[in-house]
Amino acid sequence: MTIGIDKIGFYTPHLYVDMNDLAEARDVDPGKFTIGIGQEKMAVAPLTQDPVTLAANAAWEIIDDQDRDAIDFVIFATESGIDHSKSAAIYVHQLLGLKSGARCIEVKQACYGATAAIQMAKGHVALHPESKVLVLGSDIARYGLNTGGEVTQGAGAVALLIGQDPRIMTLEEPSVYATEDIMDFWRPVYSEMAFVDGKFSNEQYLAFFNRVWEQYKSESGLALKDFAAICFHLPYTKMGLKALRTILDEGDEAVQERLKANFQMSQHYNRNVGNIYTGSLYLSLLSLLELQDELKAGDRIGLYSYGSGAVGEFFSGILQPDYKQHLHVQDHKAMLNSREALTVAEYEDIFKSTLPTDGTTVELDVEQDPAPIVLASLADHKRQYLSR
Ligand code: COA
Repeated sequence: MTIGIDKIGFYTPHLYVDMNDLAEARDVDPGKFTIGIGQEKMAVAPLTQDPVTLAANAAWEIIDDQDRDAIDFVIFATESGIDHSKSAAIYVHQLLGLKSGARCIEVKQACYGATAAIQMAKGHVALHPESKVLVLGSDIARYGLNTGGEVTQGAGAVALLIGQDPRIMTLEEPSVYATEDIMDFWRPVYSEMAFVDGKFSNEQYLAFFNRVWEQYKSESGLALKDFAAICFHLPYTKMGLKALRTILDEGDEAVQERLKANFQMSQHYNRNVGNIYTGSLYLSLLSLLELQDELKAGDRIGLYSYGSGAVGEFFSGILQPDYKQHLHVQDHKAMLNSREALTVAEYEDIFKSTLPTDGTTVELDVEQDPAPIVLASLADHKRQYLSR
């Protein structure tokens, strides 16, 4: 039996800010944002989208009635969750109409959470081959207005269906992981905004990558030439490029050209959405699979996951026959192309608008949001979602 990714869904809100406009407003050379950081557009979530709705919208496009019967485990990875106690997975479980004979949990380890969820899902399917596990990586990245990290904000979710004999990609062994207690990025429970030591975070991302990559090669016996592409967690696209460059000289010219070309494809969605934390690596994988026509069944894709704090992991997967038929290329193109550009002033207003925290009732203007699933109101400290 093989286990892996059977389906992938993606959702990002309908609003964005262009990085050239943000650069102008922040009095920065646009090249710093578009080349130095490598971001073009930053998705902005209206109040009617929260991590629950983003994830539910991402899953909505891939789940059918057969999946509803088979899913008995929902794992929601996030670092911008809405509740310290109740898992966001339960809301999504209800919104998707999944069967009650299911486990629902939320997991957290910064941007690494969805990788932990996928590995947990793999173990679950190994024990229960008929099961399918819905893994959700959903976040709204907020560093704050006028901060160094502002250009690396974003919002969105990726939904992955993990099962046996997957239609998109099988997941291989070994998977190599490492943990160190460091303070490169964190968000205390009292803070709406993340704290980050940006330069240290970049250094650690690379150090963890080199560590797990070396260990992976020694455990697997594989080398750079054995990979059609390597996808990275992309807090901003330049970060992944920097990591790739540290190992490129392990391959000959043809290998280097292949990996560089495929990296270009794998960063396109992230460049136009921004950092979506837990979903970022899987958005990059989706970008590669949907935009690169030269990949074929049997190709091996490497995946580097990093979550500040910090945990790093390197693992790989093999593309399956006809994987392309199970993607939603046109839907994603239409979603990204139909978004509305915000002025920087409009983005700042949305950024500053927050939901009440004192239990008062608020009805949100859901007509402005084209998403199928929205946050409609808040009353008595309870969120009311609407699926339409
Ligand atoms: N044209 C092209 N490139 C330019 C430029 C211009 N006009 N001006 C600057 N640059 C380049 C710099 O040379 C630098 O490139 P390099 O990293 O290859 O050396 C890059 O743009 C960034 O410039 P820098 O001065 O380092 O930016 P910064 O001090 O504003 O910090 C981050 C950048 C990434 C550290 C900051 O945005 C941040 O903290 N982001 C969040 C970090 C994060 O996501 N961490 C999580 C990791 S998982």
